[in-house]
Amino acid sequence: MNRRNFIFSGIGLGILPILNVPAWAAIDHSAHGAHGADAMPQNLKTVADMPLLAVSALPAGRPHQPLSILKNTSVQPKQFTATLTAAAHDVELVAGQKTPMWLYNGQVPGPLIEAFEGDEVEIRFVNQLAQASTIHWHGLPVPPEQDGNPHDAVPAGGEHVYRFKLPKDSAGTYWYHPHPHGDTPEQVYRGLAGLFIVRSKNDPLKAFAEQHLVISDLKLDANAQIPDNTANDWMNGREGQFVLVNGQREPVITIAGRQRLRIWNACSARYLRLNMGQPFTLVGTDGGLIEKPQIMDEFLLVPGQRIEILVGNGKPASMTLKALIYNREKMGKVAPEVDRTLATLQFTAGLMPEIPQKLRKIADFGRATAMKKVEFSETMSMDNGVHTMAFLVNGKSFDMNRHDLISKVNEVEVWEIFNNSHMDHPFHIHGTQFIVIDSTFNKQRTNAPYRALHDTINLRPYETIRIKTVQQDIGLRMFHCHILEHEGQGMMAQLLVK
Ligand code: C2O
Ligand code: CU
Ligand code: CU
Repeated sequence: MNRRNFIFSGIGLGILPILNVPAWAAIDHSAHGAHGADAMPQNLKTVADMPLLAVSALPAGRPHQPLSILKNTSVQPKQFTATLTAAAHDVELVAGQKTPMWLYNGQVPGPLIEAFEGDEVEIRFVNQLAQASTIHWHGLPVPPEQDGNPHDAVPAGGEHVYRFKLPKDSAGTYWYHPHPHGDTPEQVYRGLAGLFIVRSKNDPLKAFAEQHLVISDLKLDANAQIPDNTANDWMNGREGQFVLVNGQREPVITIAGRQRLRIWNACSARYLRLNMGQPFTLVGTDGGLIEKPQIMDEFLLVPGQRIEILVGNGKPASMTLKALIYNREKMGKVAPEVDRTLATLQFTAGLMPEIPQKLRKIADFGRATAMKKVEFSETMSMDNGVHTMAFLVNGKSFDMNRHDLISKVNEVEVWEIFNNSHMDHPFHIHGTQFIVIDSTFNKQRTNAPYRALHDTINLRPYETIRIKTVQQDIGLRMFHCHILEHEGQGMMAQLLVK
């Protein structure tokens, strides 16, 4: 039984009174998956809502800390060799208190792997956790058997060597995190996630100094412990009271002149509508540089996504990097959305390299000769007086033993992804990048405003997005909602590439 539905037992409120979204009223419960004896839901580890540690308990306003870099132990050219060990560590986040976390090499966030296009990567993964895990290379074009699929679990106490080559034109901003069956949300919210940058020898933005901002959130109870998910976390995705940048609360980032920032949304579920009080220039997305720089005032960075931006206009100023209110249509009784301060940006005088007007040519993959349809949906049902909620792809909950879709290797495809639900969900697919063709929202069709490579894209309620993509390796790929609690509850499916 692979289904892991969330059961709303013991919440006390009952589900209906806490839902104020009319779309639910129209759901025909009898037509959907979470029903009957063959689909008895399995309870998930859940705790009741509890008092949380005051946000002021974590120090703020300290200088921004650079990421720790994973040392390459190889002396061979074009070879990157290193070890990542996942283990439990007690971390002193709050003075005088120990917070047990699960970390890669003891680091918050996990170390940054920096390698070049053409490099052979060999990462030995040592799993010292008390449960099975994998390392998934989010966004990287690595062969399926090296991509940390849930099927290739590394048992507690086990080891595994991941090997892959970074192809040409793969320069970009990626990350890695566990992807075991069912336990991904917990392993990530306890601290397991790290960063991966692929560099190119002819980077058109070489002249810019670079800084890295990994945004994650953290939930701590009144005793500075990381609590299990609550019912609300399983429904809406977990959001902690702390939003951290490189593991720090509201650091001060000094930016001399004009610089390149790489920003990761490594949160389980938090949407980041980024704004810094002055325009910035978007130069890259998930899969590396875009074709032409785009000047913007804000960018909605959803869980799993990354961007590269150029910031600084030469005038000294102190600005606040914020995540502005974004309504992603959460369910139930949730705290009102507020603008969140992420960091202080201290702009100072410095080098102002010219921004190239052309960054890269992104091919459109050619003519598509196949088409796929994906539908995200949510259902709620009553089983034996217990309310059960399910998050589905094409009407089904994830099953490791089912191939949901089949593609031919190297065949260009259009995927039409429909969010048939009242809440936003970020779609993510493994092993490849895609370009967005258009979006249909409220009956309005809009073409993608610029050509960019993505592996994760947000879908607003009832939005349809068409993407063009191709899979270059034979094997099994996952695609899923990157709100990790939704993925963990089954909003994931499998693509078999033959
Ligand atoms: Cu970052 Cu399958 O996910
Ligand atoms: Cu991924
Ligand atoms: Cu979702």
